[in-house]
Amino acid sequence: MSEDKSDREYDIVVVGATGYTGTIGATHIAEHLPTNLKWAIAGRSGVKLDALAAELKKLSPDRLQPAIEIVDVEDKSKLSSLVKKARVCISVVSYHHVGAEVIEACIKSRTDYIDTAGTVLHLRNWIDKYHKAAELAGVVLIHSCGAFSAPQDLLTWASVRELEKKFSTKTKELVLSVVSIASDPSGGTIESMMERGAFGAEVLEKAQQPWYLSPTTGKQSSNSTNFFGMRHDSFLGSLSASAINAVQNRAVIHRTWGLLGGGKDYGPNFQYNEYKKASSTLAGVLQILNTRAIGLLLTIPPLKAIAMMFLPVPGEGPDLEKEKNYRVEMEAVAIADVDDDKAAPKVYSRFVYPGGPYHTTGAFLAQGAASLLYVRKLEGGAVGGLLTPAFLGADLIERIQGVGAELSTKIV
Ligand SMILES: NC(=O)c1ccc[n+]([C@@H]2O[C@H](COP(=O)([O-])OP(=O)(O)OC[C@H]3O[C@@H](n4cnc5c(N)ncnc54)[C@H](OP(=O)(O)O)[C@@H]3O)[C@@H](O)[C@H]2O)c1
Repeated sequence: MSEDKSDREYDIVVVGATGYTGTIGATHIAEHLPTNLKWAIAGRSGVKLDALAAELKKLSPDRLQPAIEIVDVEDKSKLSSLVKKARVCISVVSYHHVGAEVIEACIKSRTDYIDTAGTVLHLRNWIDKYHKAAELAGVVLIHSCGAFSAPQDLLTWASVRELEKKFSTKTKELVLSVVSIASDPSGGTIESMMERGAFGAEVLEKAQQPWYLSPTTGKQSSNSTNFFGMRHDSFLGSLSASAINAVQNRAVIHRTWGLLGGGKDYGPNFQYNEYKKASSTLAGVLQILNTRAIGLLLTIPPLKAIAMMFLPVPGEGPDLEKEKNYRVEMEAVAIADVDDDKAAPKVYSRFVYPGGPYHTTGAFLAQGAASLLYVRKLEGGAVGGLLTPAFLGADLIERIQGVGAELSTKIV
């Protein structure tokens, strides 16, 4: 049983609200969450917070307006007093510098927490440091609740449930194809990608392991790609091994698998594989080369220095109107775990959000926080700990559908 926090001053506090993603998340709250929500926007710059508050008021004048809280999250006692005032904390700060401070304050204050952090090395560290403590305190920590890895995790969760419901079978594999996701990154995302390079080759290699974030190890993964890094699926078409966040998404989804009984729920042979849709083998090979080139550009020091002259810096990002007009689209096939592979039942699923990856992220953060605030129904009977977006299950799916997303499954 989680303690009653209804007398806390705020339902939700957004820490890092003045950043690129934070602003989009706060805007989503102002536009879509109940108008009587008691909330606060927090950051270290009063000037930026005032400007954001004025924009939010213009957008939605008839709702409770957010309070302004000035806090540098490195000031631990001020951060603790702030977080203690809220029932749910959304964190959108620069995670590699100051992410851990917000998590620690939330565990101490018994405040549920949600963010978009996705660097698997940070997540591994945080699991080791905070999972048990959060579980004991009955605090939920949900990471990666953005365009990476929330839709992928929820599509998988929904497909596994559909196979179980219709055929009483476990799932052998979820093959996901990224159809459309703009590669127009914010300064914060670039900074996170560059940060990965600082870990060193050996650590990075280890972090590629499919079960790196899972409490137990599952089946040896087979990528099933050919010599060119391509795979063909009869429903999804040509697929190339070039999806930019495939390693992160796989590690997060395999953590969901591990936390939900290590095979008892999704199935003992389950594995997740992600690719990018390609119009032909040549196009797929070019996509792979392009992804590798981006990786090198952001990790090799002299190339990094040149790239920095052209890329957005923290706080910046793609033009907001342009970003809003992109579209995130992915589709997947879940294959049942039966003896005869050829006769295996399959579920086709699809996710579409009418906005770019940062608007998708803003929606998942705000709707995920709403799910924690109003329903807090966690999969597998979890009471707390370092969890994944799929732990909010059907409630988060309904909420995201309610703001224009398609997230559907059908037997094929
Ligand atoms: N998983 C996903 O799908 C996904 C999607 C989008 C973003 N992200 C991740 O989200 C993170 C943020 O990205 P972004 O583009 O929004 O970055 P950003 O624009 O640079 O924003 C970072 C925020 O952190 C705040 N901050 C930094 N140090 C602070 C401190 N000591 N005290 C208080 N606030 C502090 C900044 O405050 P100031 O405004 O005062 O500078 C700013 O509000 C990145 O790690 C990115 O990779 C993930």
